Amino acid sequence: MCGIVGYIGEREAQNILVAELKRLEYRGYDSAGIVTLSDSATPTLLRTKGKVAALEELVGQHKTSDTVGIGHTRWATHGEPSKRNAHPHHVGEIYLVHNGIIENYQDLKTMLSGHEYEFKSDTDSEVLAALIDYLRRDSPDLLTAVTGALKMVVGAYGIAVLDTTNPEEIIVARQGSPLIIGVGDGETYIASDASALVGYTNQVVYLHDGEIGRCTRSGLELQTIESQKLDVKIEMLDMDMQAIQKQGFDHFLAKEIYEQPTSLAATLAGRVLPDQKYARLGGLNMSDDELRHVKHIIIVGCGTAYFAGVQASYFIEQLTDDVTISVEIASELRYRAFNVPEHSVAMIVSQSGETADTLACLNELKRRGVKCLGVVNAVGSTIARAVDGGVYLHVGAEISVASTKAFTSQVAALTIFGIMLANAKGTNPQFIDEFVQELAILPSEIQKVLDKQGAEIPSIARAYADYNHALYIGRDTLYPIAMEGALKLKEVSYIHAEAYAAGELKHGPIALIDDHFFEVCYIQDNWLYEKSQSNLIEMNTRGAHAIVITDTTKKVPGETVIRISTKLSHLTPLLFNVVSQLLAYHVAVKRGHDVDQPRNLAKSVTVE
Ligand code: AGP
Ligand code: GLU
Repeated sequence: MCGIVGYIGEREAQNILVAELKRLEYRGYDSAGIVTLSDSATPTLLRTKGKVAALEELVGQHKTSDTVGIGHTRWATHGEPSKRNAHPHHVGEIYLVHNGIIENYQDLKTMLSGHEYEFKSDTDSEVLAALIDYLRRDSPDLLTAVTGALKMVVGAYGIAVLDTTNPEEIIVARQGSPLIIGVGDGETYIASDASALVGYTNQVVYLHDGEIGRCTRSGLELQTIESQKLDVKIEMLDMDMQAIQKQGFDHFLAKEIYEQPTSLAATLAGRVLPDQKYARLGGLNMSDDELRHVKHIIIVGCGTAYFAGVQASYFIEQLTDDVTISVEIASELRYRAFNVPEHSVAMIVSQSGETADTLACLNELKRRGVKCLGVVNAVGSTIARAVDGGVYLHVGAEISVASTKAFTSQVAALTIFGIMLANAKGTNPQFIDEFVQELAILPSEIQKVLDKQGAEIPSIARAYADYNHALYIGRDTLYPIAMEGALKLKEVSYIHAEAYAAGELKHGPIALIDDHFFEVCYIQDNWLYEKSQSNLIEMNTRGAHAIVITDTTKKVPGETVIRISTKLSHLTPLLFNVVSQLLAYHVAVKRGHDVDQPRNLAKSVTVE
């Protein structure tokens, strides 16, 4: 989802801006642009539809030694992807890049048109640039003009603004769309995502909603939109170069699938205590007494984060006796007239910590006085800063749009919360110990799957890559895995894939089965084995092309059988999920798609 970069210092801005934009490509976009200037030459504005590589070619044809500039990767909301709608937008002396949506842009456009402004693009962002230019005429400086303009704006924004009459500063502001300022030695960087700053500086300032900043070569000055001066709080960047490089893998998706033993170990470190038969999350800010009184949990998320919540809800119910759970799709919950039971706590699940729908639910739940705990990966993200307590996943930057290592760690973190509840309530000590012991060996069990199934799946994927429809089915704790597995395949291979609770097959979906479909059937050798086997036989009698993922050593009637060997029981579904990840990855590679940046998708959906 869209990206902002900026630089003011002594070095050539063009190269730095393009390099920063390349770091943000993984977030998804449809066009890109930069503008650079310095104290003498006129601005050099370069914009293009398509990839940053095309912008880089333009830079090669229009080299400058300018030392100030801003740049943008656009994910279109108003106006088709095109060069004329690409940012930076230029009105009068003002150049602007914008992430987000200006909701009242039509009213502003009408007002400005009455002052002879004409618009070259279809975007809402250009209207904001024109408004700043309009106010600049009667303002002593750019900061005053931007402040005045933002007071007239309704909507979400992260912006960086340049005024050609004063190339010694860049004005930034955020409301609902992240912005981070990197402070260097005689140079200052701007980015909408920390990964763009890695290697340039490790001293960063996270802007909060309602803050406006003035960036110069000597650093950053901050104020509120009400012009109240603010102290600048410099933090250390929690990310290194290794985290944003592929390290020998062909794609970030493969790297992040294979990273799971280590990334999960980072999530569990200091939290899972097998010798003490216990696990705990610091940072929840909840006493045992508060945990004991929890009667209902609302788990909120989108996409993979939502499926992680569904998966964990089964485990939490097994661990506790008196806790009910509702797992909610954020974009549904935020508009529903939902009721909150007594003694509820909310778990806000988000890898990026910036998903607009999830953040909206968090704000509504807080408004209703519900204690909100975050399960977030991105340090310093909006959701991470807005919750009452919570945990970071510590899995490192998840670059590929398709979420993999975050899912596994989200489920683990939520399960530890279930262990804490059960422990505080004094229920199921045997179950607690079983889950703790399984969590402790889960990283090594995942490694075994990567070693064994990682070798056998590429050929299986090639055999099924030409289908255009797939049905994923699973029972009980395998149903969320079927949902997540279907999403992975959809996202990266563009194969129409849907998931069903296996018991639902006979209530309609079984009508779908024919040679245009393949099926992924999860079967665990547990109390539901016979029932799951029956579902598989039902499908086979109708000509299914079933890939069976199972931990049993018994004979299984599947066209293709992928056998996992594991010591796990409760957490076996998480191993099946790694197989789904590998299958989706290799099918997408076989189909020749952009695995890390699938069409139409963004890594973090910060617009509604
Ligand atoms: C998952 O592979 C997708 N990229 C998407 O569904 C994602 O999980 C969803 O947008 C939620 O993102 P978040 O965890 O950053 O909030
Ligand atoms: N709404 C703006 C546009 O459509 C910005 C979109 C974005 O966040 O990239 O150009």
